[in-house]
Formats: sequence, structure tokens, C-alpha cells
Amino acid sequence: MSCNCMTRTSQQECRGILELILQTYLLEHFQWLHRHPELALKEYETTNYVKNVLKQTEGVELLNLGLDTGVLAKIEGKEPGGVVAIRADIDALPILEESGLSYSSENEGCMHACGHDFHTTALLGVAKLLGGEREHIKGTVILLFQPAEEAEHGGEKVVNTGMFEKYKIEKIFGLHTKQNMPVGTIAIAPGPFSAAVDRFLYTVKGMGCHGSAPQTGLDPIPAAARLVGSLQEIVSRRISPTETAVISVTRFTSGTSWNIIPETARLEGTVRTFNPKVREQIVELMQAQAEGLEREGYQVEFTWIPGCPATNNDAELAELVRKEAMEEGFHVTLQHPEMGGEDFSCYQELVPGAFFHVGTGGKYPAHNSKFTVDPAALLGASKLMSEIVKKALKAS
Ligand code: NI
Repeated sequence: MSCNCMTRTSQQECRGILELILQTYLLEHFQWLHRHPELALKEYETTNYVKNVLKQTEGVELLNLGLDTGVLAKIEGKEPGGVVAIRADIDALPILEESGLSYSSENEGCMHACGHDFHTTALLGVAKLLGGEREHIKGTVILLFQPAEEAEHGGEKVVNTGMFEKYKIEKIFGLHTKQNMPVGTIAIAPGPFSAAVDRFLYTVKGMGCHGSAPQTGLDPIPAAARLVGSLQEIVSRRISPTETAVISVTRFTSGTSWNIIPETARLEGTVRTFNPKVREQIVELMQAQAEGLEREGYQVEFTWIPGCPATNNDAELAELVRKEAMEEGFHVTLQHPEMGGEDFSCYQELVPGAFFHVGTGGKYPAHNSKFTVDPAALLGASKLMSEIVKKALKAS
């Protein structure tokens, strides 16, 4: 979107009108996406919708992502140069919406309660902005609409398509809405800001017997209970106090009746870390706990299910985002690390990337049935991301 007006006043007026048009455009797509949320790997309607919008967007070429859902597209600048990608996630959550919005979910039990509709719309805005000014772009912009961020390992699936190698992507950017920050603010920091998300399971097998005669069997319940305590000692006594880690046992199941000592007890939970070395150390220590119980005669099965690694913002790119946001008039704050996960980290394992939070107001936190984002933040987010990408291409 650009104008050809000659005078400064008419240029300013024109810019105002163009921004108004873009705002209306963004609002229309945002409301449609909010009304049509879809769960991870089921984003068929969303995929079709995004494809149709992009087909009608000047300067945008659709590519084949190679997955059933999700969309890949590119904008080729007039001059050759580097390749920079922007990622938006497109999936929603299994939540019954109670936001009271006039454009609430029409897909009962499913809701955009994490702002992925905002991310998708903001990227459509970037497509509109950059597609219209290819003459100012040096290099290629890749637009990635990723499926399945909330579940089903979408980031990993995208990486496995080989698109990063195929399109020679050099840098990547992404954003996420932030409920407790007002419109007009962003938060960014170099280094990690969301944790590696891993899952674990223990099965402790003893020998079942009568509840009145524990000495005739091998009770797995006290062993598993000790295990819960020992896991907390890993965090408090074995990991350096200057590092961060969480081990949470979130499920403990055993037994069938009041007078039977059961054969097995099962524990399940999650581990969150920032430092890959601490992550490795914890797996080893958890394995050692299992071996300790085995020496007491239990049969212990320990299963570690690795999830996405910790995000890790490239210092230079984080600085680029910070500077660009200041120039665009955003209030910029330092992003504090959180123990939640974000599979944008899968891409940061391949190429340098930066991920930041955009303030979208609202009273209720993400994943709440009353969660809302203020669509007034869309225009700023699209413009900021467009400028970031142009700068990043110039620097490459
Ligand atoms: Ni999210």
C-alpha cells in the first residue's frame, strides 16, 4: 500500500486514509478468524481462508508447505538479497467461549483464547503492506502460518518439512499477544524467555498384597511418594541456585480398593528449564532416582518425552526489534522469562530469531474463556513487523 501524492500535506492525508483502509481490512479478517477457531492440526477452514486472502493480495506468491494445514507464502523483493521469515500460529483451544464478543466463536467448545487469530491477522497485514512495496524490498520475505502451536508439535512438523533449507531462510521473527500490557507497548529481551517443555512418566512396580499384611508384598505407594519428594530435591539441592528449573508432578495414580496394596503406582508431570545443560542434568538425575528404587527391589520404568526447547532470542535481532519499535512509537519494556512454552524455539535452533510480546490489553489471561485482545493493536503490530523485516533484510 503506497500513495503517489506529491505534496507533504496530501501525503500525510493519504497515509491516514491508507491506514484507515488497512485497519478495516485487519478488523474484518480478525473477526472472521475469531468466529472460526479450529484445534491443532484441524485448521482446514483457517488454512483455506488465509490462502484465499493471500491469493488476492498483490505481490504475494503461495508456496507449498507440505502439511495438511498451515500456509506458506513469499514476497519477492525487486532486488535480490537475504531471506527473512515471519511466523504466525493459527490454531485455537478446546475452550467454550464466554467473552461476550459480538464476533464470538461459532465453533462451540473451541476458542481463540491465546490470540493466535491476532497473530494470523497481523501477518496478513504484513503481507498486504510488504506485497505492495516490493520495489523497496531487498531479498525475500517468507510468510509462515504455522499449525498446531498449542498441541501436536506444529513447530517440529514445520521444521521436518525442510522448508528452512529449501528456501534458505536466514532469520525469523514472531510475536505473541500479551494481556497485561496495554496497546502501544511491546516487550523484548535477548536470550531465553520461555522454557523448554518436557514431560515425564514413572511406573513403579512392586508386588500387590492384602492391605492388612504389607510385609507379604512390596508396596509401590510409599516408594512413589518418596520419589515425589526426591524430585523436588533435584531442583532445590542438585541444580545450581543461579539456574532456573521446575519439576511438577501433576498426576499420581495407584490402587483399586481400600484393602488392597496395589502392584503399581504411576507418576506423571512436566519439567521446565531454560539452560540446555540443566535440562540434560535433570534427565540424568531423574533416571538415577529410578535406578535407586530398583535397588530396593522395585521395577521402575522412567519415560522422558521431550517437547520444544527453550526460546532463545538472538541479541542482535532483539536489539533490531527494540530499536524499530521505539522508532514506531511503541513503549518498549524488558521481557521477563516465563516457564511456559513456545514452539517458535524450534526455528531458533535452525536460524537466529527474535520473538516479542505485543500489548493487547484485556482483563483475562490467555487460555481463559473470557480472554479478549484489543484489535486496535493490529495495525501497529503489522506495521512494526513489516519495518523489522525490511531492516533485517537490509542488514543481511
Ligand atoms: Ni499462544
